[in-house]
Amino acid sequence: MRSKIVAGNWKMNLSQTEAKALCKEVNKLNIGSEIEVYIFPPMLYASDCKAISTRVKVGAQNAHPKDQGAFTGEVSMWQLKEAGMDAVLIGHSERREYFQEDNALLKQKLDSALAHGIRPFFCCGEPLGIRQDNSFLSYVKNQLEESVFHLSAAEFEKVVLAYEPIWAIGTGQTASTEQAEEMHAAIRSWVGEKYGKETAEKTSILYGGSCNPSNAQALFACENVDGGLIGGASLKAADFSVLVAEGTWTILN
Ligand code: 13P
Repeated sequence: MRSKIVAGNWKMNLSQTEAKALCKEVNKLNIGSEIEVYIFPPMLYASDCKAISTRVKVGAQNAHPKDQGAFTGEVSMWQLKEAGMDAVLIGHSERREYFQEDNALLKQKLDSALAHGIRPFFCCGEPLGIRQDNSFLSYVKNQLEESVFHLSAAEFEKVVLAYEPIWAIGTGQTASTEQAEEMHAAIRSWVGEKYGKETAEKTSILYGGSCNPSNAQALFACENVDGGLIGGASLKAADFSVLVAEGTWTILN
């Protein structure tokens, strides 16, 4: 049985006081053993959040693939591990777009995260133009082939995949259940071709992109959607609690 996961990517939002308060609220949620909840706060607050979180796992939104060195402004996977971080986001479209992170760099990040025992959440997804010209399946497959599919099966089984169509992120234009399920099923079939059916069935594939309390139930009910990577709706405890509850409800029904 694969993990069902609801994760909040707080991006570059919240003051320290707000972040700690939200973290306390999230930690109070009724989280059943059937579901894993992660938060990805701004790095500066990650240790505060880790100290507060008993039931919720805490990750970083980014890290550098090298362990140490002259990389001003960066934080390494090795440092994340010592700080007690559970996970790291790799390949978020905002990192790809605004920081020119390419598939080759993301491959290095993935290797470094796994080497240090940090669970990678690898994000993939196509821009609007690629969706419109109908080449979105091959586009996402290429992202996985160039950054992820060099891993051994044992390494790959530690990775969480997140499909986040760029045109749906922060736009309110959520992918339809058909669009999400088509991509998630395709991703699972490529994982199956590469690592075998058993590994494919164990892989958690999250959906991200304008996922909110009003659409989460339908998205999470899709056969190949194993939860969500949530941006805006993870910044309000009330909204996030609905998403966690929807995740749990969907699993139990
Ligand atoms: P929104 O939920 O705000 O669209 O953001 C999704 C996302 O980028 C999560 O990583």
